[in-house]
Formats: sequence, structure tokens, C-alpha cells
Amino acid sequence: MEFTIKSGSPEKQRSACVVVGVFDNRKLSLSAELIDRASNGYIGEIIRRGDMEGKLGSTLLLHNVRGTLADRVLLVGLGKERDFRDREFRRSIQAAVKLLNETGSYEAVIYLTEEKVKRREVAWRVEHAVCVAMESVYRFDRMKSEPAEVRRPLRKLTLSVPQRSDLAAGEKAAARGLAIAHGVELARDLGNLPGNVCTPAYLGETAKQLAAEFPAIKVEVLEKEAIEALGMGSFLSVTRGSLEPPRFLILEFRNAPKKAKPLVLVGKGITFDTGGISLKTAADMDQMKFDMGGAAAVLGAFRAVAELGAAVNLVGLIPTCENMPSGSATKPGDIVKSLSGQTIEILNTDAEGRLILADALTYAERYEPEAVVDVATLTGAMVVALGHAACGVFSSSDALSRALVAAGEEACDRAWPMPMWDDFHEGLESNFADFANVAGRAGGSITAACFLSKFAKKYDWAHLDIAGVAWKEGKEKGATGRPVPLLVNWLLSGEAAAA
Ligand code: BES
Ligand code: MN
Ligand code: ZN
Repeated sequence: MEFTIKSGSPEKQRSACVVVGVFDNRKLSLSAELIDRASNGYIGEIIRRGDMEGKLGSTLLLHNVRGTLADRVLLVGLGKERDFRDREFRRSIQAAVKLLNETGSYEAVIYLTEEKVKRREVAWRVEHAVCVAMESVYRFDRMKSEPAEVRRPLRKLTLSVPQRSDLAAGEKAAARGLAIAHGVELARDLGNLPGNVCTPAYLGETAKQLAAEFPAIKVEVLEKEAIEALGMGSFLSVTRGSLEPPRFLILEFRNAPKKAKPLVLVGKGITFDTGGISLKTAADMDQMKFDMGGAAAVLGAFRAVAELGAAVNLVGLIPTCENMPSGSATKPGDIVKSLSGQTIEILNTDAEGRLILADALTYAERYEPEAVVDVATLTGAMVVALGHAACGVFSSSDALSRALVAAGEEACDRAWPMPMWDDFHEGLESNFADFANVAGRAGGSITAACFLSKFAKKYDWAHLDIAGVAWKEGKEKGATGRPVPLLVNWLLSGEAAAA
């Protein structure tokens, strides 16, 4: 979809559709008011008849509204004016775009971006409108033999800003929104692809394609022999039971001054998690194709910052493999030696994410990073703790934790701080190795983070447990692309600091 920014009166737009808001209860927004005046009170008349109350997300499509130059006028309910905040703004854009995509208009001018949203500037409204619009028309049908066709898909959206002086900021924000949306789209596609297509090798090819499309991205894809030569015994223990060969992806995007230390993103890339010998139960196991959501988010974030040419030095590390049971699989009780030299007693082969991340975190040391953030669908306990609202942030640095939470808030892609008190380390003690890979059930997300922290001592580090946010279940089952918006917001805020 294509986006342009404009400033002007709604009644004067020559367009297939002009989209204006109505507040609950029956209160016209300024743009709806302008259309009402141009049409001699037609909008007010319709509203008095009770066809549009202004309930959030409701829509009413009008044709040939006299006094206007557009073919259609779409009224969108915004809910109560004093409650019009982030969520409500995004909901109203989503309602508008979904309807537009299903009707005959292939382009439209949206005035909802002129509405005041508490604590948000015009740039935020434009960026989010673009992101939400793209997400609303997203479909994943490439595995269907006959993709369902949208008759006249929405191709072009014009977003209105209140003043001509807002145009420049609006255009910049639209570019940001579009780049983030492209990153989200990539992450969703990778997540939605089944485990028999989206293999470790496939993720490697995807990274190479990114580098081909954006030459500023450099990619190296290590195969099993190279991973062995490095000594990543913890990572390799997970891949032993699988016929699908592992990969270790290294991405670099250096677009800030050389002296600026890089930020490192590490993504968990388990392309299917059966649990291994500690086999999972059958119900919903298909959802473990989404266990590479961290890897997908890292690739999505790279896509976005490269598209924007952001002034950041960024490294991406993605350990990727399958977790399968077989005669050669790692068994409970097996002890392995990690790249850090620390030995691990694997008490549960289903706690595999931390095993592959451990070696990637050690590998990250060689970049002398400014900070390292790992992203992983790490524990079911995270879903119990924060549901699907926010990912958990575990960090050795309060400042880093705060920055990530703030970036998530800004991006409507929430993250929330979790503790990592020393008490939780005790559960990982082992009689046979330096420590075990699991503790008891209690505080499972926290002990997982404590395990990771043993490999992340040499730099500022944060861990995002995205198990609750990376995909949706039920009717809307599918990857969300989260936390790409959070990551990109965080990376771009660092851009300002480095300049
Ligand atoms: N990929 C799973 C975590 C997960 C499970 C995410 C369900 C979303 C939904 C991870 O590898 C795992 O299996 N974790 C175990 C850890 C346990 C064995 C300590 C879990 O959460 O049960
Ligand atoms: Mn597992
Ligand atoms: Zn897993």
C-alpha cells in the first residue's frame, strides 16, 4: 500500500472515499462538521435518525454526499471524546481500513489522523495509522492452493494532517510507520510459515535475501561444522535429535560512526519445538512452529532500520534449529559444555531455548557491545504471568529496562519489567554440573532469565520473553510480528542519543 500526507478540507477532496470521525454520543468531529456544513446538514440528519451513534469502531458508508467532491464519505465511530487514546485511535483506523478494503474504493483520504490523541503528536498518529493500516490488510495465504482474491484492494491512503506545517513531520512519520510495518510483515510471514517450510536453512536464506535487498546489511550463515568448531556445545545439544541441520546467523548493519559500540539483538530460532525427549503433549503442539518468533523479530527489526537507513550500529545473532526426539537426541541428565566453558546438566530437554541462547550470548561478547537484547518465546509461565498484553523484560540494567518499557509504550507493543532476584538462582543448582537448565515450576520465567544471565555478565543485557505476545490463538490464530515495533522504537531512540 502507498501512503501520502496532505493538509486540506475534507469536502474538497476528489477521492473515492473521505473518512471522518464521529464521537459517542453523536458528536461530529471537526472534519465531519465540515462535511455536514458543505452538505447542508446531511450528516447531522443521518445521525439524528440514529444510524451512527459514534460507538468505537462502528462504520457507516455514505454515497454521493452533496456538496463534497468525493464518491463516498465513511463515518467512523471514535467512542467517547475524552477517552480517545492510543488504543481507540488504532481501533478506529483499523475499522476504517478493514471496511475500505472490502468496498469498491481502492484509495481514500483519512481525516482520523487529525483527531487529538492524549499525549501524542501528529507524527505519532501518522506513524501508527500507517502501521495499523498495513496490519489490517495483512493476509497469509501463500500456502493455500487458491489464494482468495480481494476484488478491489485498497492501494493508496492519504492521511490528513491539521496544518501545512505538519506535512514534513507527517511524511517522516509515514516512512517510519511503513518501515516498521514491513518489518512486522516479514516477522509475521516467517512465523506463520509451517515448520516444514520455515527451517533453519530457510531462515538463513531469508537473512541472505535481506542482505541482497539492503546492501548495508552484511550476513554470514554458519553451518553445523562451523558451529562445532566454535565450541557451541550448549546450542548443538538441542539440534542432536533432528535431521534438519542447524544454522547460526550473524547479521551486521553498521550505519553509525565506527566508534559507536554496537547494539546486539539475539533471537531464539527454534523452528519447531516438540520438547525433545521431554516430549510435549499433543494439544496445540502445532503452535510450536511459532517458537522462532524471536528470530523473526530480529530479522524484522533489521529490515526496518535498513529501510530507514537509521544511524545505528546493529548486530543480530540467531541460533536456529529444531528440537526433536530421536535415538540421537540429548537425554535428561546429559551434561554439555557451553561456549562460555560452563557446564550444564540438561534436566529437561524442553527448556531448549535458553540452551541455544546461552552460546549466542557468549558469542556476543566479541562485539564489545553497548547493550545486548535477546528476544525469545522462552516460557509458558510468561503467558501465565502477563497474558498476551505485554512481554516480560528482565535486565541487568535499570536504564536499559526503562528504555525498553518506554519504547514498548510508544509503539503500543507493551513490555513490562520482571524481577531477577538472587533467590531464583538457587533452583538451578546441580550436583553434577555447574548448574542445571531448569529449576522448579515456580517462577519459571524468572529462573529461565536467571539461567541466561549466567552467560550475559560482560555487558548491559536485557531479555524479552515474548511467549505471550508473538502469536495469537483461536480464530485469529497467527503470528503478530511483535515485538518488532518495540525493538525499532528502541533502536531509533538510540539513534538520537548517538548523534
Ligand atoms: N517454547 C517453549 C515456551 C512456550 C510454551 C511458549 C508454550 C509459548 C507457549 C519453551 O521452549 C518451553 O518449552 N519451555 C518450557 C520450560 C520448562 C520445561 C522449564 C515451558 O515453559 O514449559
Ligand atoms: Mn521447549
Ligand atoms: Zn521452545
